[in-house]
Amino acid sequence: MRLGVLASGTGTILEALLAADLDAGRGAGSGAGPAADLDVALVLVDRPCRALDVAEAAGVTAVLVPRASFGADFDRVAYSKDVATVLLDHDVDLVAIAGFGTVLDATFFDHFRSPVLNTHPSLLPAFKGWHAVDEALAAGVKLTGCTVHIATADVDAGPILAQEAVPVLSGDDAAALHERIKTVERRLYPETIARFARGELP
Ligand code: GRF
Repeated sequence: MRLGVLASGTGTILEALLAADLDAGRGAGSGAGPAADLDVALVLVDRPCRALDVAEAAGVTAVLVPRASFGADFDRVAYSKDVATVLLDHDVDLVAIAGFGTVLDATFFDHFRSPVLNTHPSLLPAFKGWHAVDEALAAGVKLTGCTVHIATADVDAGPILAQEAVPVLSGDDAAALHERIKTVERRLYPETIARFARGELP
């Protein structure tokens, strides 16, 4: 499948997608070799960011679809349609959201009809949204984690494909906890995408 990755940030999950040996899930690799089963055909970013540099350094087609606004006048419908059009123009047939800072609305899912997966830094349905790690800390939970799920227009609410728990340690701040969660995401997300692409998951 031709995978399109949507990112906005530091792109460390993207790096894992580019680097993962996806045969590892079948016991054939170490998990650290070159991508075997996933063809990252396109990286799409919504702003200049490190993820864009990661894609370019890897020689992957990278497209910046800049947001015209981060304010109340942001035309989310038009932007969502633009993103779908770019993915379709590049023959992408599976999308992995990897820290994309723009919520795409139903227009996106109406135009782009192939599967869209997301990784989220909490054990959904707990702590949906962009501030999941801060909210888990503020709630005082002892256990959080990450979730790979099918993305739908209902944000962070689509069918769950995989989850893994991460303990909250005393003295954790958001950065430390998020980094431990991302360490798990960098393994779980490529594995789960590969299993999904092989038809092993619903
Ligand atoms: C990940 O924790 C992902 O679940 C969340 O954003 C983070 C992306 O990390 N949506 P990075 O920018 O790839 O390091």
